[in-house]
Parts: sequence; C-alpha cells; structure tokens
Amino acid sequence: MDRLEITGGTPLAGEVRVSGAKNAALPILAGTLLAGGPVVLSNVPHLNDVTTTVKLLRRMGVEITFHDGLRLEIDPTQIREHLAPYELVKTMRASILVLGPLLGRYGRADVSLPGGCAIGARPVDLHVTGLRAMGATISIENGYIRARAERLRGARLVLDTVTVTGTENLMMAAVCARGESVIENAAREPEVVDLADFLIRMGAQIEGAGTPTIRVQGVESLSGASYAVMPDRIETGTYLVAAAITGGRVTALRTRPKELDAVLQKLGEAGAAIEVGPDSVEVDMRGRRPTAVDIKTAPFPGFPTDMQAQFCALNAVASGTATITETIFENRFQHALEMQRMGANLSIQGNTVVCRGVERLAGAPVMATDLRASASLVLAGLAAHGTTVVDRIYHIDRGYECIEEKLLQLGATIRRLPG
Ligand code: UD1
Repeated sequence: MDRLEITGGTPLAGEVRVSGAKNAALPILAGTLLAGGPVVLSNVPHLNDVTTTVKLLRRMGVEITFHDGLRLEIDPTQIREHLAPYELVKTMRASILVLGPLLGRYGRADVSLPGGCAIGARPVDLHVTGLRAMGATISIENGYIRARAERLRGARLVLDTVTVTGTENLMMAAVCARGESVIENAAREPEVVDLADFLIRMGAQIEGAGTPTIRVQGVESLSGASYAVMPDRIETGTYLVAAAITGGRVTALRTRPKELDAVLQKLGEAGAAIEVGPDSVEVDMRGRRPTAVDIKTAPFPGFPTDMQAQFCALNAVASGTATITETIFENRFQHALEMQRMGANLSIQGNTVVCRGVERLAGAPVMATDLRASASLVLAGLAAHGTTVVDRIYHIDRGYECIEEKLLQLGATIRRLPG
C-alpha cells in the first residue's frame, strides 16, 4: 500500500488548478445509463472512484473510451446486465447511484448494499422508500437490493433527512417515470444541480434543483449529450486550508467561489485575507498563525461535512480554543485520534471535538481511515515539524487527483512511497 511522506514547515505558495468534482462526476456517470445515445463528458477527474464507476458501467455493457485522460466518450445503448456486484460496490458507496437510473430506464436493478467510507452508519433506506413510493417492488436478498418495476410512476417524495445521493438517485429515477414527481426536503448541494443540468441537457424536464423542492416531469426517453463536470469545491477548500495552515498564499484556479461561501467565511475568521475572482480564490495567511474557528457541519449551504477534518487540522495548530461539531455523520473523527499522535490537543466529546491549538505539531507515522480524514492528515503533516508518513493513502486516491504533484508545485516537501 502506498504511503505519503511529508516534511512540514514550508509555507505553501503559488497556483493550483482545481480538478472536476468527484461528487458530481460519479452521479453524472451513473446518469449516463439513462442516455438514449452517446455522451461525451469532459473535466472528469482521474480518481479511483471514477475508475471503479467506469468498471461498474463497463460490466453492464456500457462502452467507454478515454480521450486525453479527462474526456470520456460513453455509449450506454447496449446494456446487457443490470447488476452492481458486491466486489465493486464494497469499495465505493456511491455505486448505489446506479439504482435509480437502471430501475427508471430498464425496470430492473440488482445493487449490492454499499460499503465505502468507514464513517458511521450510512443507510440507504430513503433511496428505497422513495423508489417504492414510485411503484417499485424492492426486496433485500443476500446483501443485494433487488428492485423491479414495469414503469415507475411520478410521486411526491418527502425525504426525512437531507440526503445527497438519495436526492440524486430519486431524481434520476423520476426522469423517465410516468407523470410528475416532486422531491421535498431535497439536498441543495451544487453537485445535485450539476447532475440536474446534465440530465436537462439530455432532454429531462427538471425544475428547482438547488432548492428544497425539485419537480421532475417524466419524459419517454432521453438523448445523448456533451457535458463538462463542475469543479471540485472540496478539493478547492482543501488546498485553501493548506495555504492557511502553513501561513502561505495559494490561488485556486478554475473553481467556483460562490459554492465555497461557508468555507471562505471560516478561513476569513481564521485570519486569512481572501480574494475572490470570477473563477479563482486566493487565500493569503501572510505568514501568520491561524486563529481557531468554531464549526458546525450542515447540509449545503451550511458548512460541508467533507471539509470538517481539514479544519480540525487547522484548529490543531491555531491560536485559541474552538469546537467542531459534526451533525451529518456519526463517528467521523478518526482523524482527530491520529492528530493526537502528532501532538494535537483535541478531545472528542460526543459529536464535538474541542480543539486547543498548539504552537507546533510533530511529524509522526499516521494512518488514513477515510477520504477526508486522509486529506486532513496530509494538511497536519504540512504544518508539522519533521516528517509525517501517512499510510493507507488509497483513500486519498479515491478523491484527490495528483495530490502530491499539486502540493509539490506549491512548494511542499512530499513524496509517494510505493508500498
Ligand atoms: C454525499 C457525498 C459525501 C458527503 C455527504 C454529505 C457523494 C458521492 N458523497 O454522501 O461526500 O459527505 O453527501 O454531504 O456525493 N441517510 C439516511 N438514509 C438514507 C440516506 C442517508 O439516514 O437513505 C443519512 C446518512 O446516514 C447521513 C445523512 O443522511 O446521516 C446524509 O447522508 P447523505 O447525504 O446521503 O450522504 P451521501 O449521499 O452518502
């Protein structure tokens, strides 16, 4: 297993080009199952989760050709199988996203119950309840969700909890259903909007994506389309925290600052000077130590749970005491335990971490436990005195394109140690 070795202490400086968003690319790739003709996707990030999704689609009979790495030509018109097997789904929870489109378009789907990040119980009951309300017959057999429907019918779906992939799955299922579907308490994340825009490009009739009420008028079929995946707001935020935690100055290019409001506000509170351009953001910490900031995660437009671990690293070296409260997932503080091994003064109290900033962390061998936790350990390593080795970085490779190249370009001392 590969590891990352980081020698900390250098303020990062320079520009970093943001990649396409993992959490938009995955649902959009699943959404190509609905296409009536070829689809061309650009700005698709080169990530392990994308490779897993491509494998999953190819197994079903979807033809996929890669052009210059980031452009994919996808022909979903010869599907033979409607199955997402355990060996692929277990590595990536987002595989559940094929359930809605397969059922909506082909009337059948067998999808293994997902694994994915080890961040607490992550059920899919809302996906299943919503599809049942649209007329599907669903049973759970031998660890598989077995879903069948003649043709789904539009329904009013009120989601008990705001769920991102749940909203996406139901929206995709509704696109070819008979009549109108209304999804209430829908997730408002920009990635939901990106998926809706892609589906609309193929002829879907969707209104309200980005608001709590999404209306979908079912259509008979969709066409193919060309589409560029949105930039990754979490990757952007991670590099901006890298600037702040090292007292440096980094400009993220080809991103969308509007989608980062909650994160930029917190970086401002931490003492960074922030300059926003039409598609760029610069964070300048001017060599100063950050101030600890209180954070409470919430669905968009609140502070993203996927940025919580990175701010935990920031607070660990900041001046002052602050709390980070996680409201979306239970058990999402494994990074805090690893940071303690680097000398951080963090204590976990229920769903809150109390962070008492220390002057300096000390490099140490640490282990990544999930995707964003891994990123936070890299950030802690960049700020620490001495050398940190982050183990199990396959988690990072699921969600960060070329992380060591990008950090090297910003002046970090980092290298991959092949396992
Ligand atoms: C997505 C993101 C992930 C992000 C998360 C929250 C993708 C591929 N992943 O994950 O990076 O951290 O949103 O922003 O886009 N829940 C239920 N029942 C369900 C579904 C969810 O109770 O059927 C609960 C979950 O346990 C959790 C909350 O709803 O407490 C939010 O989860 P959800 O938004 O579904 O997360 P994901 O879509 O899996």
